[in-house]
Amino acid sequence: MASDVGPDLVAGVAVDRVPEGGMIQGQVGGEPVVLARRGTEFFAVGAACTHYGGPLGRGLIVEDTLRCPLHHACFSLRTGEALRGPAFDHIPHWRVERVGDSVFVRDRLTAPTHGPAPPSMRGQKPPASVVIVGGGGAGLAAADALRREGYDGPVTLISADDDPPYDRPNLSKDYLAGTAGDEWMPLRPPSYYTDQRINLVLKSPVVSLEVQQKRIRAADGTTYAFDRLLLATGADPIKLPVPGASDSQLSYLRTYADSRAIAAKAASAKRAVIIGSSFIGLEVAASLRARGLAVHVVALEKEPLERVMGQEIGQFIRGLHEAHGVSFHLQDTISRLEGRRVILRSGTSLDADLLVLGVGVRPACGLAGRAGLSIDRGVVVDEYLETSAPGIFAAGDIARWPDPRSGERVRVEHWVFAERQGQVAARNLLGRRERFDAVPFFWTEQYGASIKYVGHAQAWDETVVDGSLEAKNCAVTFKRAGRTLAVATISRDLQSLQAEAAMETSLRADLQAGSG
Ligand SMILES: Cc1cc2nc3c(=O)[nH]c(=O)nc-3n(C[C@H](O)[C@H](O)[C@H](O)COP(=O)(O)OP(=O)(O)OC[C@H]3O[C@@H](n4cnc5c(N)ncnc54)[C@H](O)[C@@H]3O)c2cc1C
Ligand code: FES
Repeated sequence: MASDVGPDLVAGVAVDRVPEGGMIQGQVGGEPVVLARRGTEFFAVGAACTHYGGPLGRGLIVEDTLRCPLHHACFSLRTGEALRGPAFDHIPHWRVERVGDSVFVRDRLTAPTHGPAPPSMRGQKPPASVVIVGGGGAGLAAADALRREGYDGPVTLISADDDPPYDRPNLSKDYLAGTAGDEWMPLRPPSYYTDQRINLVLKSPVVSLEVQQKRIRAADGTTYAFDRLLLATGADPIKLPVPGASDSQLSYLRTYADSRAIAAKAASAKRAVIIGSSFIGLEVAASLRARGLAVHVVALEKEPLERVMGQEIGQFIRGLHEAHGVSFHLQDTISRLEGRRVILRSGTSLDADLLVLGVGVRPACGLAGRAGLSIDRGVVVDEYLETSAPGIFAAGDIARWPDPRSGERVRVEHWVFAERQGQVAARNLLGRRERFDAVPFFWTEQYGASIKYVGHAQAWDETVVDGSLEAKNCAVTFKRAGRTLAVATISRDLQSLQAEAAMETSLRADLQAGSG
């Protein structure tokens, strides 16, 4: 039987229908399933990514993993386990049997359970307790990984936020546009924290860290002792002084509460001015357009995103926004507010019921700095994400880490990367000594156009455009001295995954050559 989700894999398919190193999509009892082949081995796993339901059948097989085309989650083909963020939950997997020239998908196998400590940790004493400061992407991913690695000791996740860990990237996208509701936002349901015995402490900014005493103190005076500590305090929006403006007139977007507040203001607003043409500013512009507001974007740059994405993509993004009715005021900035009028440096005056500032963030390293940890525009960590204080790790937006590709210390502000750092930091908290070498990845979504970016290019001397930006189908490669540093793609998700895999392979080759 064949259906729109492909052949019935229980009835079997001819071996040569499954390409070597590739996959086909079929179904088992109506459930979409990917049948993949690697040499003589066949694997059957669920076809829907557990992050946002991305179509894994359009993803990429890399060794015995399957990568999601939407935001690069990585699953084991052998067990269905979610190996790297942004997906946390496994996909189902089935036993596959080859009989003659056909392969048959047989019984559904049980999900991998929290196993015993991995081999590299056996013989080592697990930490008596782990405390994680920061309930964002990195913090939650770390707590989750600790349990998945079989760590049984006390885990405390302390957050300054009012809300349990949530989907921060969505704050400027569907949630702000009003197309995703509150039910979409939590990364985990409340029962998860109880089931996993994760002591989640909210509304508790940590104000001091005593390294020698292995103790932290929250603003309400409560102290928490730790054996190992992870700092994952993220970043704070840079506040811009605006003469004539009261605090309530200036909106920033970092937290769920911020997004709710902007959405509430937008409900009665007609005109919005956004200062800054960062990803966040632009996503806010797109979301407010979706709500029907007139939107003006004011930014110092010649083209939006030019510094990060180059001129070509900058022009494309501007064109995309203009086609949706956004007005740009570039190479300009806000000079003051007069009532509801935003006065720009150029003298232009714009009416605004809503003023959103998205002029960048600063890593939240105050706590680490006061405790005497090494700081350099972020918390300095080594290749294992350990700070200058042994047993104290840092991950996510605060961490400045030695990028093996560029040889430079870099700090990136990407969701998936923060989660992956959290996951690796968790294993290192347990004594694993795993080098963090993931390829940076981020995506942005505006008016349905999604840009994926892999790698890290601080400065480049050449860009190569393959395809057409106008047709929203292209890959832009950023190079320095002939070497690919980063690749941005539009409507070429498979190519983005391939670029990521190629960077992983070339790093592995470099490391082997270095050690050989
Ligand atoms: C609106 C928005 C949209 C974004 N969209 C994208 C996107 O599309 N793609 C992408 O790749 N990236 C995106 N990002 C960036 C991404 O969200 C960040 O890189 C990521 O959240 C970093 O994770 P983190 O865990 O380091 O920090 P965060 O997620 O910011 O978490 C930090 C946590 O630490 C807590 N905290 C801070 N200080 C203290 C303290 N002293 N004591 C206790 N707790 C503390 C905070 O309350 C928070 O819970 C977006 C960011 C924003 C704000
Ligand atoms: S939907 Fe698969 S990684 Fe997001």
